[in-house]
Amino acid sequence: MKNETWLFGYGSIMWKTGFNFENRELCHVKGWTRRFWQGSTDHRGTPEFPGRVVTLIESASEHCWGTAYRLPASDANNILEDLDYREKGGYDRPDLSLTLDSGRTIAGTTYIAQPRNHNYLGESSLEDIARQISFSSGPSGSNKEYILKLHQTLEQYDIQDDHVATLAQLVLKQTESTL
Ligand code: SIN
Repeated sequence: MKNETWLFGYGSIMWKTGFNFENRELCHVKGWTRRFWQGSTDHRGTPEFPGRVVTLIESASEHCWGTAYRLPASDANNILEDLDYREKGGYDRPDLSLTLDSGRTIAGTTYIAQPRNHNYLGESSLEDIARQISFSSGPSGSNKEYILKLHQTLEQYDIQDDHVATLAQLVLKQTESTL
């Protein structure tokens, strides 16, 4: 449909949405997967001790599930401006094709932290990623809260994500053992 603005959320936008929308639908993007490979120095960590948050990584055989939001036409530009500020720690906002749960394919946009951005951390062992998440926090709160809320939200939507689930378990184990 013409002139609709759809935003795909796969990380904090799913559980800390913070904007008005007209419609929300389960959705996936083909050829991408969710990974805790982006460093966070302004939300869930600091420049000295960056946390880790999710980004989308290209992976031809996979697809990433999240939620798509149809933004009110009168407010879409303001909402995206506010989100551009919130996601300024390394995310671009490319256009991409979204597949709604209903099967409809639509044009949309999403935030992706590409490997070239200054906060990008990339792949590491799950144990090391979990350790970094367990002990990082920043102006928006603890990195542990970020992953546990994301994990809980994915479960609520029945979205299976082994990367997030394994890391959430490791973080719980690592933080219990330091109590
Ligand atoms: C998103 O939520 O879709 C982008 C990444 C994040 O802010 O966690």
